[in-house]
Amino acid sequence: MWRSAALFAALACVSCSNDWRTDMWYQPGGGSHAMVRPEPEGSVPLGARQHFDDRDEALTLAAPFATSDASIARGRALFTDRCVSCHGPEGHGAGPVGRYFPPAPDLGYAGIQGHPDGYLYATVILGGRAMPPMSQGLDETDLWDLVHLLRTIQPKAAP
Ligand code: HEC
Repeated sequence: MWRSAALFAALACVSCSNDWRTDMWYQPGGGSHAMVRPEPEGSVPLGARQHFDDRDEALTLAAPFATSDASIARGRALFTDRCVSCHGPEGHGAGPVGRYFPPAPDLGYAGIQGHPDGYLYATVILGGRAMPPMSQGLDETDLWDLVHLLRTIQPKAAP
C-alpha cells in the first residue's frame, strides 16, 4: 500500500510541468556581474564588415569574387525578396511601394550604372537619400551577389 502510494507520488511529480523549486530559479539579478562589459576601444567583431559612414567611403571597394551566372541568380533571388517592392520586378522602378513612398528609380539608368561597384554595395548597406538601409541579415556574399545582379539591369527600352 505505502509503496504504491510513494510510486504514485513520484510519478505525479515527474509528470508535473511546474518547476516546484523556485528558490534558485527566480532570483533578483543586478550588480556588476549582470552588466555587459564594454568592447575594448578600437576592437572589431570577428567577421565584421568594414564600417562606412558614407557611400563615398566605399568607392574603391571591389567585389571579392567575379560575377557568374550562379552569383547573379543568387542576387536575383535576394532582389526579388527585398528590392522589388520599390524597384519593380525587373529593377525598372514602379514597385507597389512607390505609391506611398518616393518612387524608386530605374536601376538601369546610366547615372546609377556609372557608379563604381563599391558605391552600389554601400547603397544596400546604408540606403540612399530616400532608400532605407537594406542589408539586415545579408552577408558579404549576398551583398556582392546583389551588386553583380544590379550590373545586369539594362535601362528600360523606350516603348
Ligand atoms: C523602400 C523602398 C526601397 C527599397 C526596398 C529598395 N530601394 Fe533602392 N532606392 C529607393 C529609392 C527611393 C531610391 C532613389 C533615392 C535614393 O537614392 O534614396 C533608390 C535608389 C537605389 C539605388 C541608386 C542609388 C544612387 O544613389 O544612385 C540603388 C543601386 C538601389 N536603390 C538598390 C537597391 C537594392 C539592391 C535594393 C534591395 C536590396 C533596394 N534598392 C531596395 C527605394 C528603395
